[in-house]
Amino acid sequence: MATHQLLVLPGDGIGPEVTEAAMRVLDVVAEFGGWAVEKDEADIGGRAIDQSGDPFPSDTRRKIDKAEAVMLGAVGGPRWDQAPKRPEAGLLAMRQYMGLWANLRPFRVFPGLEHLSPLKNAAASGIVFRELTGGLYFGEPRGRRFLPGDLEVVDTLRYRQSEIRRIIELAFQYARDNHLTLTSVDKANVLESSRVWREVANELAQQFPDVPLTHRYVDAAAMELVLNPERYQVIVTENLFGDILSDLTGGLVGSLGLLGSSSVAGTPGTRGLFEPVHGSAPDIAGKGIANPTGAMLSAAYLIGWSWSQPEAQHLIEEAVAESLAEGPHTPDLGGTASTEEFTQTVIQRVKNIVQRRKIS
Ligand code: NAD
Ligand code: IPM
Ligand code: MN
Repeated sequence: MATHQLLVLPGDGIGPEVTEAAMRVLDVVAEFGGWAVEKDEADIGGRAIDQSGDPFPSDTRRKIDKAEAVMLGAVGGPRWDQAPKRPEAGLLAMRQYMGLWANLRPFRVFPGLEHLSPLKNAAASGIVFRELTGGLYFGEPRGRRFLPGDLEVVDTLRYRQSEIRRIIELAFQYARDNHLTLTSVDKANVLESSRVWREVANELAQQFPDVPLTHRYVDAAAMELVLNPERYQVIVTENLFGDILSDLTGGLVGSLGLLGSSSVAGTPGTRGLFEPVHGSAPDIAGKGIANPTGAMLSAAYLIGWSWSQPEAQHLIEEAVAESLAEGPHTPDLGGTASTEEFTQTVIQRVKNIVQRRKIS
């Protein structure tokens, strides 16, 4: 029996609630697949600050070194907003430590949830390839400089050409393999980094003549994603633009709670970090009503990517899609179901799908 190692970082707010739900689904799928999952847990974010003063403690780092894959809930919350070290710094440090430069964030309007989308023609689906370890998030210098009677504050948008090339190339490969169009989103009318981004995209387009490439400025892309999302299939963009636009796609599909993501370093079969797109949702934390779909889908992506088990991945995706089509729904989707009720529904549907397959 194959055994997989998994490190779970529940984090803060609804993080523990949604990861617990996703892990229960994963356990059922593993049982049917005939493989075992050995789970370990570690602290990150606010919870880690409370334990050790460090949002990314060395104990967590050591466990990551040994893990085949890492599943994250969410970090952050108002309790730590004024703390000298923020929970979010732990997540950023972890992405950098693990060298995960590509964040894949798929979105789609699920059948049965069309009424929740603000779109007239609610048929959007696509994927954001977000660069994850460069740009304004990590550039130096950064910080505050006290001037006589004033304060200067600096953030730096820094990229190497090689960092730009690898993420755009990954998006091109995905678009080619899936016969999709690629939109590169930048701010080349203002930013030097975006001009190089555009040059690199154009240069790579020579190697991918079968992939239609469009450039869009980020402001126009935001508008067009709302009005004509069907024009967007694969989007590739830098770190901050990708953060913003992927939350926008959460709005497009009806709830941020529906989006999962993979943070990876290029090649399937390697270690990755799998995390819902949403945050710790302090407004609903502890109430047992968080939508665990994003976490469940992240677990599905994990199984497919890090453990090369595409059938098990699809089993979760199918069970989640059926559950969303039939309900019951959590409050973010207009329902009254708890996280627990929705999770039980998904688990039951996993069992039903396996049963159906046995019969047919
Ligand atoms: P958020 O994503 O936590 O919440 C935004 C809104 O979406 C809230 O109204 C929330 O209730 C709702 N929502 C989010 N996920 C949901 C789910 N699964 N089910 C139902 N509703 C859901 O964003 P925020 O409020 O801006 O940030 C809260 C904290 O989370 C901040 O500290 C922020 O830095 C952090 N954050 C962490 C991550 C991460 O760990 N990956 C991502 C985003 C934000
Ligand atoms: C996300 C979050 C993080 C980011 C924060 C919490 C650092 O918003 O994963 O989308 O900006 O990358
Ligand atoms: Mn975000």
